[in-house]
Amino acid sequence: MNIYKKQFYVKNKLNFCFTIISCVLMTAINVASAFILKLIMDVATSGSLKDMKRLFLYSMVYLIVLIAVMFIKRRYYNNFIKKAMVQFKEFAFSKLLDKSINSFDKEVTGRYISIFTNDMASIETGYVEANLKITVQIMSFLCGLAAMAYFNLILTLAVLAASFLPILVSVIFGKSLEEKVRLVSAKNEGFVSMVKDLLTGFSVVKSFRAEKEIFNLYQKENAQIENAKNGKRKTGDFITLLSASSSFLVELTTFLLGAYLAIQNIITAGTVIAFIQLLNLVLGPVEALGPMLTERKAAVSLINKIETATTAAEKKEVSEEKTDFSHAITLHDVSFGYEKEQSILKSVNLTFEKGKSYVIVGASGSGKSTLVNLLLGYHNNFDGEIKIDGIDLMTLPTSSLYNMFSVIQQNVFLFDSTIQDNITMFKTFEKADVTQAMEKSGLTKLAAEKGVNYKCGENGSFLSGGEKQRISIARSLLRKTPVLIMDEATSALDLKTARLVEEEINKLKDITRIVISHRMDEGNLRLYDRIIVLNNGIVAEEGEFDRLIENKGYFYSLFQVTKSA
Ligand SMILES: Nc1ncnc2c1ncn2[C@@H]1O[C@H](COP(=O)(O)OP(=O)(O)OP(=O)(O)O)[C@@H](O)[C@H]1O
Ligand SMILES: [Mg+2]
Repeated sequence: MNIYKKQFYVKNKLNFCFTIISCVLMTAINVASAFILKLIMDVATSGSLKDMKRLFLYSMVYLIVLIAVMFIKRRYYNNFIKKAMVQFKEFAFSKLLDKSINSFDKEVTGRYISIFTNDMASIETGYVEANLKITVQIMSFLCGLAAMAYFNLILTLAVLAASFLPILVSVIFGKSLEEKVRLVSAKNEGFVSMVKDLLTGFSVVKSFRAEKEIFNLYQKENAQIENAKNGKRKTGDFITLLSASSSFLVELTTFLLGAYLAIQNIITAGTVIAFIQLLNLVLGPVEALGPMLTERKAAVSLINKIETATTAAEKKEVSEEKTDFSHAITLHDVSFGYEKEQSILKSVNLTFEKGKSYVIVGASGSGKSTLVNLLLGYHNNFDGEIKIDGIDLMTLPTSSLYNMFSVIQQNVFLFDSTIQDNITMFKTFEKADVTQAMEKSGLTKLAAEKGVNYKCGENGSFLSGGEKQRISIARSLLRKTPVLIMDEATSALDLKTARLVEEEINKLKDITRIVISHRMDEGNLRLYDRIIVLNNGIVAEEGEFDRLIENKGYFYSLFQVTKSA
């Protein structure tokens, strides 16, 4: 059993054992009911008052055992399912959190949403519950047949022979149902992705008067998912129809043969009644097992899909975990493109020394964000070498990179929680550290006005762009990592606040700062030890402000253009 399927059973053994025991007892009770019915019929046709007393006693015992077993089942069966699903969902989500950013970004988030809602529900019924039900059905079939054989062998053989018909039906048509279930899951992914996207862009849709066009998109996807579901239902119904009619043929065979044997006085009328009762035990599974096994197979393929989606094909990590940074980050002949044959960065050679501050400037699309994303290990298919203190970045565990670098991205993301939670990322920090991080990022006034427990709204929608940025700056400063990377982290701040925040950041001791900036503000640029100028993926120039101005090269022209704008 693979590790994903194991999650249903680990720490769930007691519930599982009692569930199975109650299922066995339930089957025994069902078989016993046939014996009681036979007894009733035989007592009625040729019994005595003494037999009636015995019958009454048996019936009472039957009832008491039935109630007791139902109670056991109610408790352990439901607990088993609950725990199995909690553990499985937790395991899948923890695996998902283990993925690196690099292997997550490429996928559509709608896929994961669909997995944790729709697919999980299908797995609950189609696998976890189905496993138990299938066990019950098989036991019921075998015990039913055994009891039948005890009463009359010829009739039993006839039932067995006729049962092959419905079994054949489910074997033949099961495969097509399985495909339909998979199709529904795939369509659901598309549907969830689209709805998520359209709702996120609600205000854009409204302000651009695109309701009709968006509705058309919705209509198309909605029709597709409902068609897929319809196809699944139709195939399911077709299988039910075929197996119901073939079951009817089995019943008819049993009735006719049973009646004939009773007329010939080979069996009693009570035995015919017992057979009718036992037929339910045998035919029920014959009808239900096919669809159940098919649904189970489809659920297994969903479990496999979850396994593929949540297990990352991670890079080979050979170096040991590294937490501190003592010397330098070097890029040697680094070239990279998102697509094959395309190159965004071209032969980049750079050194970032410990404790110094760097600002990367360049036109939009010149590759600034791409460059820092390479340092963060987001892409692993670049040419050349990136080394941190002489260790190849590709061999470092991703967790080491996240321990060394903290990054303030161009697109700030805030959780739908308080300002405090968004700064601490739900962790516990010393109060003084939080206050200091807030001061340095210019949040003190905001915190005093709104309070740190102010709810930020979905992706910080209750805050201004600049406030969101400052929260994300505080979030990074609080981590006190040896390297701080900022990608246009102050772009939404006014010149004065931006300068204050950047001054604070430049005062930080022992921290290596790599800052991407659009702002060609002389005062701002002078704060940094070195300016790196990117032009179309190439490092065009590098050096201090005055020297670059003296050079009268690409930086100079860039500076003149923005200054006069
Ligand atoms: N995930 C991606 N997939 C494909 N192409 C991308 C991706 N991200 C960026 N690009 C492309 O790579 C080029 C460099 O993008 P990058 O984001 O590094 O520019 P930038 O210098 O940060 O620009 P800006 O100042 O506008 O933020 C652009 O042409 C962009 O279209
Ligand atoms: Mg960028």
